[in-house]
Order: sequence, then structure tokens, then C-alpha cells
Amino acid sequence: MAAQNPQIFMGNILHCKSRTEMEVIENGYIIVIGSKILAIGQGSTLSDAKAKLCLGNKTPVRTLTESQILIPGLIDTHLHASQYPNCGVGYDKQLLDWLNTYTYPTEKKFADLEFSRKVFKAVVKKSITCGTTTACYFGTIFNASCNVLVDTVIEQGQRALVGKVNMICNAPDDYIELPEKSLANTKEFVKYVNSKYNELVKPIITPRFALSVDKEFMQELSLLAKCEDLHIQSHISETKEEVELVENIYGTFYANAYDEGNLLTKKTIMAHGIYLMHDELKLLARRGTSISHCPDSNLCLKSGALNVKQLWDYGISVGLGTDISGGTYPSVINAMRLCLYLSVHVSFYIKNMVPLTYEEVFYLGTLGGSEALSLQKVTGNFEVNKDFDAIIVDMNVESGLDYLQPCSPRELLQKFIYSGNETNVLSVYVAGKLVK
Ligand code: GUN
Ligand code: FE
Repeated sequence: MAAQNPQIFMGNILHCKSRTEMEVIENGYIIVIGSKILAIGQGSTLSDAKAKLCLGNKTPVRTLTESQILIPGLIDTHLHASQYPNCGVGYDKQLLDWLNTYTYPTEKKFADLEFSRKVFKAVVKKSITCGTTTACYFGTIFNASCNVLVDTVIEQGQRALVGKVNMICNAPDDYIELPEKSLANTKEFVKYVNSKYNELVKPIITPRFALSVDKEFMQELSLLAKCEDLHIQSHISETKEEVELVENIYGTFYANAYDEGNLLTKKTIMAHGIYLMHDELKLLARRGTSISHCPDSNLCLKSGALNVKQLWDYGISVGLGTDISGGTYPSVINAMRLCLYLSVHVSFYIKNMVPLTYEEVFYLGTLGGSEALSLQKVTGNFEVNKDFDAIIVDMNVESGLDYLQPCSPRELLQKFIYSGNETNVLSVYVAGKLVK
């Protein structure tokens, strides 16, 4: 086999093979050729694997130290690139008030392309710096600014789904579009992304939430998604006030409103889903629609507490989202930690509920995210033939920490989830390419 840019990684490797199985390979290796994982195993079998792949001794090897672990890249299944300037602001309000007071006025500013360039460059960089190899972005209603977001993720080498936001009602007059215009602009945007022929970046149909659109318009968007085999994202059942409004306007439950608009598909991911009822959860499971759990946002905006395990019991895929700027920071490390804390808290009030474990939130931040975005064939863990999306975590980056106890790989992962931040993300690889 003619090897193109082969690379070998050696050290302690952790990844999830499924929701219930985390694999730890101590002193393991991964062989990457081009963008793909070609082999993974125990260090003792490396020379056989190299021989099989006809790799010579000149193949570059990156050997991890004792305080480092190699784990799959983190997956942020829901964030608003255009809300980055507002992180940490306005949490004295709840969702609908917050949208009108802070969010829409800020998103309007992205009509200015210089401003778009500046903010998008910063947020994509920060997201990668925090270890996110795949991100699912909301842009704005403006095509030109969304094109800038697409250019920015391509420039910085992140894997991404990027959505031009659709809003036709219930927002300021200068931050909505006429339905025909919004649909035409969405088609244009899809064309723009496809014209880039970039394997890593795809368009995603993005009606903001049920209150920003109507049934007919949802149906138009769903036709477009069907014709072009596109992903779909939106928000669902985030707050009680929102749920009540949706039910009044649509005359049915929230999930049914989307279903009547044909927006619930296998490639749909909905953020939040806190107040979904039994029949709605069954409907989502039947349609194969996933949920992005955004604990930071749900706490800051005081929206509510999702019970992830309940969604799993219904057979619904769940990933984690930072949901900036409902959330405070575009870091899935934070999302994993807050997901754990929230789950522990919820378990105090639910009889016999066992809270999520660190292995389970690791799954949610990696393989779970890829499943929720229907990207599990390409990313999420270290299977042969998947792309090499990975991060090297170092839990001893500060000098003078020689008082640290030696930690096992599992303990290093715990330390990362409970006490890590972006400084512990030493390197980030997307499709075999070093991007941090
Ligand atoms: N629902 C509709 N729009 C938004 C948004 O921008 N953020 C959050 N968290 N929820 C929403
Ligand atoms: Fe959101």
C-alpha cells in the first residue's frame, strides 16, 4: 500500500466503543494514514501492524508522556457562533426575554461582514482550542455572514455543520425574512457550502424554533432537506413559557408541531427537550430524531433540568452542546462537567435514580455526539476506517507539579472532566491534520 502521510501515535488511549463500553488501551498505538485510522492496538503488536501496512522506520511517531492521554475529539452538537460576544451576559432573564433583549440585537450586528469575520474567527478558534473537532453551528439569518462562518471553519480545519438561521415571525422587523426570501436564501446558502467541496463542512437546515416559523414554512424547509439529504437542527421544549406559547399557536404538542412540518427525521437534532411528554418522546424515538443536551445554558437561563437517562430509556440519541451564549463558554469539557453535576442534582430528587458516570459523560461528549449528529460512521471514536479526530490531553501542563500522584489513564480522564480546561488540550487533530 502506498502510504500517504503516515503517522503513529503511542501512549495511553481511551475511547467509547458504545454507550456502555469505554475501552482503555494502556501503551497502545494508532496508525493514521492521510485522514483515516488504519490500525489500533497494544504497543506490543505495533511492529506487526507496521509490517502489514508496509510502513518503514521513518514513519513519524508521537509518543505521549505519562501525564497525557489520547482521546477522541470532543463534539459540540449545538452552539450559536453569532452569540459569542454575549457569553456570560443576561442570565438575569429567561429565554424569551433574553432573546429579545440580548440575542436578536447582537445577531443583527452580523449584517456587518467585518464584525462577522472578527467574531467567527475568534469563536471557531476558541472552540478548537477547547478540543472540539466537530461543531454544529447556528449562524445568523444573513447569508453573507453565514458564508463567512463557513469560510472560517474551512480555514481553521474544524469539522462542522453550519446553519443559516430561518426566522419569519415573532422577532424584530429587521431581524426576520419573508418566507419566500428565507427559503431562496437557504437554497443559496446550501449551494455556497456545496461549492466548497470540503469533506468536513456541511450545511444544516436551521429553523430557529417553532415560534420563528409556521407549519407551511417548515414543510418547505423539510422538502429542501429531503431533496438534498440535509441535516436539520432547531430547539424544542426548552422552557415552560415557550412550550405553552407553541401549544397555543400550533394547537398541538411541541414535537407534533415539528412533526406536522415534517422536520423530525433521522438527521434532525433538537436542542434541549426538557419538557417533552411521554408521547412526544415516543415520537422522537420513532423518527430517529436526537437531542442536544446543553446543561450550561439550561442552568444559566434557568430553563430546567433534563434527565438524560430518561431519553436513553426511550431510545433517543443524546449529544452535548455548549449552546453559547445561553451557555457561558464554547467548551465541551465544561459541558461534560456540568452534565455530571446536573445529573447528580437531578438524582437527589428522583427516587432510585443513579446519576450519570464520568464514562457516560465522556461518551456523550464524543461518540454520543457523533451519533446524535449521524456522523458515527466518520468520527466519535477510534475505529479503523474512521477519520482520526483526536485530542492529546495533558494533565500536568503547569511546571512545578511534580507533587502530583502518578495517575492511571482512567484517573487522568476523570481529572480532565472534573478539573480540566483548554490549557490541558495540548494538540487537536481533525481528519489526521493538526489544527492546534
Ligand atoms: N430558542 C430559540 N432561539 C434560541 C437561542 O438562540 N438560544 C437558546 N438557548 N434557545 C433558543
Ligand atoms: Fe441554542
